[in-house]
Amino acid sequence: MIYYPNQKNQELLKVPIKSCCVPRPIAWVSTISKDGIPNLAPYSQFQNLTFDPYYVMISINQNHNGRRKDTTVNIEETGEFVCGMVPYHMSQEMNITASPFNSEIDEFEAAGIKKIKSNSVKPYSIEGSPVQIECRYTQTLRLPGKGTHGTVDIIIGEAISIYIDDNYIGSDNKIDIARIKPLARLGYSDYTYVDKVFEILPSDKACSVEDALKGLVGASDSSL
Ligand SMILES: Cc1cc2nc3c(=O)[nH]c(=O)nc-3n(C[C@H](O)[C@H](O)[C@H](O)COP(=O)(O)O)c2cc1C
Repeated sequence: MIYYPNQKNQELLKVPIKSCCVPRPIAWVSTISKDGIPNLAPYSQFQNLTFDPYYVMISINQNHNGRRKDTTVNIEETGEFVCGMVPYHMSQEMNITASPFNSEIDEFEAAGIKKIKSNSVKPYSIEGSPVQIECRYTQTLRLPGKGTHGTVDIIIGEAISIYIDDNYIGSDNKIDIARIKPLARLGYSDYTYVDKVFEILPSDKACSVEDALKGLVGASDSSL
């Protein structure tokens, strides 16, 4: 079949769009309002954009009432945010923080999550999240959309520091993703988690593996 995203009344009963780009990592985004109220919410339209410097993006739709979500407002007003990884065992807490709480509510408290002082930014870090990217806001790209919540603010930020729980650094000196079991979003109400990791090295068909690895390892300066 061919599915046309802009047409209605097609064969599939449920819109498949979010199943076409999976799995999506979930950023558990911690911010703080200009009045000092902590906020926490999950965002799966989330990715790193480049690695040197390390920019990340979160794509935040408007609410059904056409207003911008608390996370967007807080980031633009205060200039800082933290993107935490959600381990599988914290799925239920993550889900609570997705509720449309009033902006006066501290969502850490609502979900029973302890707030930890961050290393480089004012928004709190999340106790139990094994990897947390502390970011400084760079810019917003606002894309017009349909209806009240189609319009989206793509928030871009630069990582200032990254907390990594030592308990999840393996004997090979790499982050032990399979042990963290990061939660990820599929389409509909479906989720998955990563518990299998395998390596594929670059092909040596066009150049040496060493040359092909340059730039793939995470910094333009290979001495870093
Ligand atoms: C797993 C998950 C992923 C989500 N991803 C997004 C997303 O990428 N963009 C978005 O606008 N809302 C997303 N949401 C919905 C927000 O988390 C929800 O609207 C939340 O109430 C926003 O809170 P805030 O107003 O405190 O920022 C997601 C919800 C869940 C459960």
